[in-house]
Formats: sequence, structure tokens, C-alpha cells
Amino acid sequence: AEAEAPVAELTAVQTTAQPISKEVTVLYGSQTGNSQRLADNAGKTLRERGFDVTVSSMSDFKPNNLKKVTNLLLVVSTHGEGEPPDNALTFHEFLNGRRAPKLDDLRFSVLALGDSSYEFFCQTGKEFDEKLAELGGTRIYPRVDCDLDFDEPAAEWLEGVFNGLSEAQGGSAAAAPQTAAPQAAGETVYSRTNPFRAEVLENLNLNGRGSNKETRHLELSLEGSGITFEPGDSLGIYPENDPELVDALLAETKWNPEETVTVNKQGETSSLRAALISNFEITVLTKPFVEQAAKLLGNESLQELVGNADKLKEYINGRDLIDFVRDFGPVTVLVQEFVSLLRKMPARLYSISSSLNANPEEVHLTIGAVRYDAHGRARKGVCSILCAERLQPGDTLPVYIQNNQNFKLPQNPETPIIMVGPGTGVAPFRSFMQEREEIGAEGKSWMFFGDQHFVTDFLYQTEWQRWIQDGVLTKMDVAFSRDSDEKVYVQHRMLEQSKELFQWLEEGAAVYICGDEKNMAHDVHQTLIDIIEKEGGMSREDAEKYVSTMQQEKRYQRDVY
Ligand code: 2AM
Repeated sequence: AEAEAPVAELTAVQTTAQPISKEVTVLYGSQTGNSQRLADNAGKTLRERGFDVTVSSMSDFKPNNLKKVTNLLLVVSTHGEGEPPDNALTFHEFLNGRRAPKLDDLRFSVLALGDSSYEFFCQTGKEFDEKLAELGGTRIYPRVDCDLDFDEPAAEWLEGVFNGLSEAQGGSAAAAPQTAAPQAAGETVYSRTNPFRAEVLENLNLNGRGSNKETRHLELSLEGSGITFEPGDSLGIYPENDPELVDALLAETKWNPEETVTVNKQGETSSLRAALISNFEITVLTKPFVEQAAKLLGNESLQELVGNADKLKEYINGRDLIDFVRDFGPVTVLVQEFVSLLRKMPARLYSISSSLNANPEEVHLTIGAVRYDAHGRARKGVCSILCAERLQPGDTLPVYIQNNQNFKLPQNPETPIIMVGPGTGVAPFRSFMQEREEIGAEGKSWMFFGDQHFVTDFLYQTEWQRWIQDGVLTKMDVAFSRDSDEKVYVQHRMLEQSKELFQWLEEGAAVYICGDEKNMAHDVHQTLIDIIEKEGGMSREDAEKYVSTMQQEKRYQRDVY
């Protein structure tokens, strides 16, 4: 239910000098759904203020229509090593290709999302912004680059864009901002900015004794929250830092744990120790943080570090705040001043591993415990280790649903699906299977699972066996990489059955990949192209086109991290 804006009223006061279009096109390129939500929100707000807005995914937008757009807003995230999200790929390619049109009449603005702990922060947004200007477009409002805590800068961007659009209309479109639309029936009040405290019902280690891995199976209660989700969605968790790590930091800095500090822009306060546990990120160093800290601290070697981009990049990689204060302390400024430079504790996203239809008012997660050594110290993942070492049944966690439209079961329950999910990548496919079982879906399904050892690491083994027995799952292939002398991975299993796999594709099967991005998802992608090339008797180029067509048709979806 969307509030209709008083369009007629606004048209009446429009200036006669130059009829500037009220049409606004908002395109998003989104991997985890944040850009999509911000784009939807921008659409809603501008509509309420009298604009005629279309919001769509970049992948659903026909680039040939770009010439017809007068006001274009792009909301786009960056992932991996500065790469566009999957659903931004074709649009990005189009703009950077030879067929990109002159866009002298275009007015545009870009909202870029990213993570400043990565080198290529907001890279995709920057590229779109520069390209559109190069093609002749004029900025309605300068690009805004958002870090993980994007709500405020995104809201500022939207206000700036709105003012820019209104000015072009002779300031006439400035309809009074509407109050928030009333809550639609059946919608939850909980969100990323207002998380629900979910009680832990179950917390198990899925790996057997002797495994190199620890994978937690978490069951959380959503009772009373009104929260709903679909298979493919993720759960955001706001974790707490390890109190031991916080105490080590306090010992290093000799700060007073009981000192009162302000924790957010709203001016809420707490003790320093509590704030370092709950409110601030202390396990990651970002370039902006080190640069700002260098302005505060007089340390000479720190000044030298920020003056050398390569050294700075190398330094922040894998180091945390304890390393920083050890290397560049003492912190000679007020604690408040220093902690204000830290990022707000970001939520961690996990692909949900249950179906709400099969497990009403519950949400299940499959979380790999992260432990490694770096720069001479043992390091632990914040959220995964909270779950593995400290979280007990009965405890609660602040959570919210991150809707992911880019990873959804086919609308038609008869469409065959091929699922590739080694390790914790198995999570959404457990949800898919639960859902398809629950709704009695008739479509064929094929699961590729892999992990190190059959005996200790076959996650949800008995469930998969039951689905096979009951015919919910048609085929399953497993690759246990360390049970034989030679490594066997999921893509090797796919290749072994390339004929049948290609046949499934030709029957219209949708392919899903979930799990490690850098190695697995990349190799599986290449293997898929190999299979199509070989079995379809195609050139490499045509096989690649086959996959990008699948992608366009949402028959190739990835949830990778
Ligand atoms: P490995 O640890 O023996 O290398 C889940 O983590 C599984 O994915 C493990 O069996 C792991 O094998 C495997 N894996 C590692 N790299 C991979 C890649 N590039 N492609 C597919 N699977 C991979």
C-alpha cells in the first residue's frame, strides 16, 4: 500500500519557462539487497513528493531506453575487488562499451555503497558516476560514497537529489515531506535499524570430532516478532566483540573501562568497556580510520605510513585496533575523540538455512567458525566466534531480515534447480529443500555438496539422505576434497556429469551457487561455461553468452562471500 502523491497540484504550479520532466528512473545494482532497499525507498519518497518514479534492477533495464531517461538515479554497491554486483554487470558493460550513447540531456546522481576496509571502496559507483559524466550527463547532486553504516549518508543524498530535482523545476516541486506511511498489515516493525532480539533455541556443532572445521547450526526464535522471510534471504546479526579482546585493548591503552563515552550521533552514552563490546568495530582497520587517527596523533612513523598508499594498504590488511595502538600509541588525545573515529559495529549477514513454512517462527543459520593467525596473533571472527564460544540457548541476539531478491527459488515449482553449495554454502539449499518439500514442489532438483572429509564434514547428511529417499531431492553429488590423494571439488563432479547437467540446463533448470567467492564460485562459473561449450558444441563466446542470458532470466543466481 503506497501513499499516492498529489501530482495534479504540483503540475499546476510548474513554471512555464522550461518543462522539466518529473520522470525519474532509479536503477539499483545490489548483491545483498541494501542498494535495492535504498532505491525502493528513494522511489517511494520521491513519489510522495510528486515525482513520477520507476525503480528497477539494472539487469531489468533495457540499456537502449537510456536515451529516453531524463533524470537517472543509480544506487549501486561494490563487492569483491571492486567488482559490480551480478545484476549490474550487463548495464556496466553497456556503458563502458562501444554502443554507449551520448547522454547530453541526461541528469543523474549516484549513491555508492561499499566497505572502507576494502581497497576499491565504492569503485563501481565511482565508475558509473565518471562514465555518465563522460557521456555528457550532468550531476543533479554529487555522488555520495557510503561505508557500512549507510543510512545517514543515504538520507542526505536523497535530500540533495530531491533539492536538485526541485530546483530544476523552479523550486515548485517541494511538496511537504510526508510522514512515514502507516505500517502495512502483516509487516514487522523490526528492521536493520530496529533489530529484533531473537532467543537462541539451539546451538550445535555440525562437524564431527577431529574435523578441521567447526560449523555451527543455530536455531533462533522469531516468536512474536511478525518477521517473515523467504528461502534465499539472509539474516543480519549485530554481534558483540569478545570481552577478552576488549580487555586486552584496555590493558594496552591503559584507558579507564568505566569512563563514560558517547556511542552514537543521538548522544547515547555508556561505559567505555561496554561501548567497545557492543557499539564499535575494533577488529578491522580502515584507511579512513588510520588517516584520521594520524591527524590526531603526533606519531612520526604513522605520518609516514599514511603518506605511502601501498604501505598503508599492506599495513591495515589483517590488523586490528590492538595492533594499531601497539604500533602507534600511546593515544594522546581524549578517548572520546579517538573512539569517535571507529566504525559503528556492522551487522554480519548469514544465508538463512531454514524455510519459514517448514519451521514457523524460527530461523536457522549455518555459520562457519573463523579462526586464523595473522601478524603473530591468533584472530577470531567476531560473530562466528560469539556463536561458537559464548552464545548459549536462552541468550538473545539482535537480528533482522535482509531480503535477497537475487537468490530466489523459481516462481514455478516445476522448474528444475541445480544447487552448488560446498561448506557453509549449503545453507540456502537446506532452506530450498525444506520449502520445496513443504509446498510439494514437483520440479527436479540436483545438489552438489563438498567439504574436506566425509566422516566429519558432511553437513546435514541425514537430512539430505531423507530428501533423496523421499524424492524431494532428485540427485546429489558430493566431493570430499581431502579423503583422497587428489583434490576433488564440486566442479569436478559437475564436469563428470556434464552431459546430463547440460540437458538440465536445456530443460530450463535454474543454477544456484552459494559459498566462497574467490576460489569456489569463480571456478564453478568457469566449469559451467566449459560444460556448455563442450556439450552444446559452442564457441567460448557463445557459451559465455548462454550463461549471461541465464543470468538475465534469473536462472543463474549466486550468493557468494
Ligand atoms: P579444500 O579445503 O580441501 O581445499 C568447502 O570448504 C570445500 O570447498 C572444501 O572441500 C574445500 O576444499 C573446497 N574448495 C576449496 N577451494 C575450492 C575451489 N576453488 N573450488 C571448489 N571447491 C573448493
